[in-house]
Amino acid sequence: MNFLKKVKKIYKLDRKIVCLTAYSKPLAKILDEYCDIILVGDSVATAFYGMKSTKEINLDTMINHGISVSKSINKSILVFDMPYNTYRNLKEAKFNVKKVLRKTNSDAVKLESNGKNFYIISKLVKSGVNVMGHIGYTPQYKKSFSPQGFKSNDEKQLIDEAVKIEKAGAFAIVLECINFKLAKKITKILKIPTIGIGSSLYCNGQILVLDDLIGLSGFYPKFVKRYLNLNKIISNAIQKYKTDVIKKKFPKISNSYK
Ligand code: KIV
Repeated sequence: MNFLKKVKKIYKLDRKIVCLTAYSKPLAKILDEYCDIILVGDSVATAFYGMKSTKEINLDTMINHGISVSKSINKSILVFDMPYNTYRNLKEAKFNVKKVLRKTNSDAVKLESNGKNFYIISKLVKSGVNVMGHIGYTPQYKKSFSPQGFKSNDEKQLIDEAVKIEKAGAFAIVLECINFKLAKKITKILKIPTIGIGSSLYCNGQILVLDDLIGLSGFYPKFVKRYLNLNKIISNAIQKYKTDVIKKKFPKISNSYK
C-alpha cells in the first residue's frame, strides 16, 4: 500500500492511532500486525546502544536499523527519525533525507522542532517528502528531561510551533511530555493528528518506545506502562540454560549430529 492510501486510512480512523518504535526486523514483524505507524526512533541510541543521549547516534547506524525494520513492513506507515545534526539547513536535510528514503524504503521522516526549522519541513514537503513533526520535550534540542508547557509563555509558543508545523505540511505531529491541558488544546486546534508520548489520552494517537513497554530498557518514567517484564523472562531462561550446561543436561544427543 502506498503512503497516500495508508495516511488516508489513519485520517479516517474512528479510534486512536497506534504507534510504537522498532529497531529490528523480528520485532517490527510483530508490530506491523497491530500498529498504524512504526517509528525507527533515534531512541535506539539510548535504548539499544546504551549511549547517554540520542544526540550520539549517527545517520548510517540508524539507516541500518531502518533497513532491518523495513523488511517487515507490510501495512503500517514507516517513519524514520532523522538523527541530530542531519537537518541543520535545507541542503543538509535534503541530502540526508534523500539517502534515508533511498536506503530504507521509509514512508516518511520525523524532524524534531527547534522552534525555527518550519521552513525546512515546508521545503521537504514541497519536494514530495512526507514529514512528521515533533514538539514539546525534544531530546535533540533540550539539555535535560523536563515536561513541557508549564511556564507562562509555553502555551503560546507550543501552539504557535504546532500550527507552523501543520502549515508547513506535516502529516502528523508527536507531542512529547506536554502538559495534558495544553496537549488537549493543541489537538483541538490542529487538523493533522497529534501522537502523544507522556501527553495524555487527549491526543489522537499514542506512541511509546517498544523497549520500555516490554520491560527491556530499564527506563520507566511515569508516562510508560510496562506491559511485560522481558528482562525477567530472559533472565529466567538464561539461568535455566546455565544450569543445563553445567549439569550436562544440554546439549542432548538429539541436539547433536551423528
Ligand atoms: O526516538 C524516539 O523513540 C522518539 C519517540 C519517543 C517519539 O522520538
